[in-house]
Amino acid sequence: MSMSSQNCLSGGSITITRPDDCHLHVRDGDALACVVPHTAARFARAIIMPNLRPPVTTTAQALLYQQRILSAVPPGLAFLPLMTLYLTDDLDADEIKRARDAGVVAVKLYPAGATTNSDAGVTDIRKTYATLEAMQREGMPLLLHGEVTSHAIDVFDREAVFIETQLMPLRQDFPELKMVLEHITTHEAVQYVLACDRWTAATITAHHLLFNRNAIFAGGIRPHYFCLPVLKRETHRQALLSAATCGSRKFFLGTDSAPHAIHLKENNSGCAGCYTAFAAMELYAQAFDAAGAIDKLEAFASFYGADFYGLPHNTGTLTLRRESWRLPDSFPLGQDQLKPLCSGETLAWRVVS
Ligand code: NCD
Ligand code: ZN
Repeated sequence: MSMSSQNCLSGGSITITRPDDCHLHVRDGDALACVVPHTAARFARAIIMPNLRPPVTTTAQALLYQQRILSAVPPGLAFLPLMTLYLTDDLDADEIKRARDAGVVAVKLYPAGATTNSDAGVTDIRKTYATLEAMQREGMPLLLHGEVTSHAIDVFDREAVFIETQLMPLRQDFPELKMVLEHITTHEAVQYVLACDRWTAATITAHHLLFNRNAIFAGGIRPHYFCLPVLKRETHRQALLSAATCGSRKFFLGTDSAPHAIHLKENNSGCAGCYTAFAAMELYAQAFDAAGAIDKLEAFASFYGADFYGLPHNTGTLTLRRESWRLPDSFPLGQDQLKPLCSGETLAWRVVS
């Protein structure tokens, strides 16, 4: 196994530069006190998704939301939430410069109806072209939930169809707009991103590296494995694992950790989203280790995302040790309970400092 100079693996432990989570949902209100400490214990920074109710559509709202998140960071932990705006059909192009000047790092595109809290999302991408032009000019990245919403398209095909019918034409119209295809789940997405130039990158979640769609149906329906884009078949998981561990700068860490109260997951119409923030680095370490590529974890988790966003690398380190431990069954989430993915199961890696 080759070892980079920065990350040292010795005696079953690995020390890496403190990582960034480039795609995270923390919600708002009481939920912040539960989930923000989990992320802040592992990550130096996280890119915070704007799909609140109502969504974060102005710079002023993003800055207030950032303050609420910072208030939930435990004393002694240094954690910086990086804010995003939610793209709507009528997000004003003038808002982009304001956002950029205030340190907002990206704008997120949810096709209307694609996922949790996406009702206010984009109904037709052409309606947003003036805003996308301002983004291209300002160097403001566009983050994409890359799925079509048509019920005529099989739910397992929605990412591949989005790439072909929406993303490819969009890229032609905006050749130098920075784009991140978020939480990719398919071989087609990997191939597309690899073939693109430096303006396109992708995030990959720990759960899409660890599980295929069988996990949703193992011994009965398992709602905690349901997220969007939904887990795909094994060949796609293998393609994602190769992408994450091949050393390409285009793929970086984004957990898409998405907390929902237990009763909303274990429900007649269960919400999409897996809660992974509590053990995020441990889950990624497990996936990379199983692929014989633990030496590739540091760049994926700590360098490539920062580089794409033009951010400095973090100072400080995170050490994980090969040690089994059991994930809690649940956490208090305001008046509710939150079940982490793999709750009650034993993991092979543990963050020790
Ligand atoms: C996310 C959520 O719950 O906010 N859910 C999910 O399944 N990933 C939204 C999203 O990123 O699609
Ligand atoms: Zn997400």
